[in-house]
Amino acid sequence: MTVEEVQEGEAKVGWAREHMPVLARIRKRLEEEEPFGGVTVGMALHVEPKTAVLVETLRAGGAEVAITGCNPLSTQDDVARYLDTVDGIACFAEHGVDEEEYYEAIDAVLDREPSVVIDDGGDLVFRLHEERRELLDGVEGGCEETTTGVHRLRAMERDGALELPVVAVNDTPMKRNFDNRHGTGESTLSAVMSTTNLQVGGKTVVVAGYGNCGRGLAEKFAALGARVIVTEVDPRRALQAHFGGYDVKTMDEAAAEGDLFVTTTGNVDVVTGDHFDRMRDGAVVCNAGHFNVEINLDDVEEMAEEHREPRPGLREYTMPDGRNVSVLAEGRLVNLAAPLGWGHPVEIMDLSFAIQALSAEYVLREDLEPGVIEVPDEIDVMVAELKLRTSGIAIDRMTEEQRDYFESWRHGT
Ligand code: NAI
Repeated sequence: MTVEEVQEGEAKVGWAREHMPVLARIRKRLEEEEPFGGVTVGMALHVEPKTAVLVETLRAGGAEVAITGCNPLSTQDDVARYLDTVDGIACFAEHGVDEEEYYEAIDAVLDREPSVVIDDGGDLVFRLHEERRELLDGVEGGCEETTTGVHRLRAMERDGALELPVVAVNDTPMKRNFDNRHGTGESTLSAVMSTTNLQVGGKTVVVAGYGNCGRGLAEKFAALGARVIVTEVDPRRALQAHFGGYDVKTMDEAAAEGDLFVTTTGNVDVVTGDHFDRMRDGAVVCNAGHFNVEINLDDVEEMAEEHREPRPGLREYTMPDGRNVSVLAEGRLVNLAAPLGWGHPVEIMDLSFAIQALSAEYVLREDLEPGVIEVPDEIDVMVAELKLRTSGIAIDRMTEEQRDYFESWRHGT
């Protein structure tokens, strides 16, 4: 990596920093109070510019930070190498590593003996419990960024296997109602458009999963004129999608109708060989869920007679009957793993990482019991208030009378 590349990484981080005013406010206080003084924070997150601003914020609060990626394809090498040049920060992430190298980098972070871990998908916490148990005693707790990671933690908790308190950052309203919905919606739309260079308006887009991410995807694709079909397994979510104005079908039905398929279920084998078999010529399939398990790539590789890569991040397969179907970003989360997938908008990550920074401080401050811990409501509300304030937006305050009315059970008609 050359000096110029490090400078490019630094410039990208600078641009993100300029647009993260909430984190800037928090950084100012952390700099004064240094709650992370003498503490090592270990992180496995997508190593890209917005994450680098979170790392800088924790460093400003006194932390030594060791970081690696949480996905082999989402690391931006120039940003990773820039981070590595900063005093007190060690970055082990590299783009395109294989599975063995990926876990070597996770181990390199754990070798620094962190007292707080910040995960996106649960790999650090899982590794600590399975392979590096000797380090568990020294860890005060952690924070988890995404839905899939929280699912994993809850499964560990159910099995009595979780020995640390871990804050479910994903589940707090200021994360899931903004990052999952608007962030995944906008960044996936933009990644699909730039990777394919195809139009969205007039297309049929099949969105698998109508959770926070799926709802955002449906809204953003529909806003550009797509017809959206939703597939679900949860009757309440399916009904929400129906009332939201979308067609709801099974994947078996939708497979023959979609021009574009986006999975965001956090589940396995949502699009399989049977579905590829029914797809239209020219169909494009991608995933926005955390792990690369939603599209069964083995099936399509086995079925296809040949494949090619006409554009970066796009593999087109020719089926025995002559139809072409394409898969984006090797079935990994397209908004971060496609070559032109830049992840969520900066302003969105300002909110999510503000929650992360404050939750990491909370883990250190409180003596928490092992288990999945909710983000305290004060932190969630504080981040919303800071965002409004830094956006120059004022809201009404309840009068004394209104507060009394809300809090009393005596008022009726
Ligand atoms: P969620 O739990 O709110 O929604 C998932 C939905 O998928 C649920 O309604 C569930 O019923 C449905 N589902 C499960 N199996 C299904 C199947 N076989 N077919 C159809 N629907 C099915 O989760 P959320 O927050 O929407 O996250 C979804 C995934 O996206 C997770 O893996 C999460 O980690 C990931 N994520 C990705 C981001 C990105 O930047 N690409 C950002 C945030 C989350």
